[in-house]
Amino acid sequence: MNLFTPLELGALRLRNRIVMAPMTRSRSDAAAMPNAHMVEYYRQRASAGLIVSEGIAPSANGLGYCRTPGLYSEAQVAGWRKVTDAVHAEGGCIVAQIMHVGRVASHYNKPEGSETVAPSAITAKAQMYTDQAGMQDMDAPRALTLGEIPAVIEEYRQATRNALQAGFDGVELHCTSGYLPAQFLSTGTNQRSDAYGGPVENRARFVLEVLRAMADVAGADKVGMRICPGNPFNDLADEDPQGTFDYLLDQASQLGLAYLHVIRMPTGPVDNLALAIRYFPGRLIGNESYKLEEAEAAVASGELAAVSFGRSFIGNPDLVARWEHKLPLARFDMNTLYTPGPEGYTSYPTAGHD
Ligand SMILES: Cc1cc2nc3c(=O)[nH]c(=O)nc-3n(C[C@H](O)[C@H](O)[C@H](O)COP(=O)(O)O)c2cc1C
Repeated sequence: MNLFTPLELGALRLRNRIVMAPMTRSRSDAAAMPNAHMVEYYRQRASAGLIVSEGIAPSANGLGYCRTPGLYSEAQVAGWRKVTDAVHAEGGCIVAQIMHVGRVASHYNKPEGSETVAPSAITAKAQMYTDQAGMQDMDAPRALTLGEIPAVIEEYRQATRNALQAGFDGVELHCTSGYLPAQFLSTGTNQRSDAYGGPVENRARFVLEVLRAMADVAGADKVGMRICPGNPFNDLADEDPQGTFDYLLDQASQLGLAYLHVIRMPTGPVDNLALAIRYFPGRLIGNESYKLEEAEAAVASGELAAVSFGRSFIGNPDLVARWEHKLPLARFDMNTLYTPGPEGYTSYPTAGHD
């Protein structure tokens, strides 16, 4: 078994085990619409065994960063259909990463009428970029009322429906990086005293209800989840990430999900890989700074089913072919990671043309 061996993860059929990791690239427009540049970008990278899309908001409230896309309007569904058609025409497989950022947002980056909501009214001590006003403090979020939470879960359900209608092969719940699901899970951001706060059984309730809603619509075998226990990104803190994720994964592992996507963090408080292997053996996609040899060894030993690569895919749309033919990798330009337009996005050539 090696990186080029096909793989079945739930209902997903991967022709190799080199997964493109989700990457926000801020190429959308103000209406959170996918566009022709995005169609071309994903088409170029369709030889990955699986593409996990950039984080896509399930609602306008779920947007937070500049020029990020959504999956809550008919026009957005039609836009994503062009992306999935292009990927499928190349024989690829693509899932939509559903990302609700919760309090990690600036109102400059959100449409009129939307709100920044979170489990508790605690502002993230961090800044983010806006086109209108440069770096800005994060919004002060409004705490969701108990009565409002079902509607937020409903947004994930509808986004999953929309993803399938748009032709995605499945969906991935973004459950790390300090966004809404992580905000519910963590003691530093969740100070609720109702059924969604306090003991871990309550803090994990939101994530488990969201997963069940997504699985209801898609079938659990088309749903994945991405985690990175102990990740402090976006001012996130939890008193006991090991305990939190032990409970969450114990419960989530009973749902029959397609896969768990785990970001390792060797310097963190939790051994994320060991934790993930314990609950999702055989259904793991590993990530974070893997080089080819290490990824090959992890798949050959059976530790990981597949490995995802983020930065390597930016400058190497044909990463799979480059590795297959032992060709060197191209670098990418940091300055055009999040700038509008094709430069530094669809402009990277395939091997032999650079
Ligand atoms: C430009 C950029 C954007 C990213 N956006 C997302 C995102 O939308 N969702 C997500 O889960 N991770 C996101 N990540 C994290 C990557 O998926 C991945 O975990 C990270 O790049 C480490 O993998 P690598 O060492 O192979 O690059 C992003 C990373 C980069 C470099």
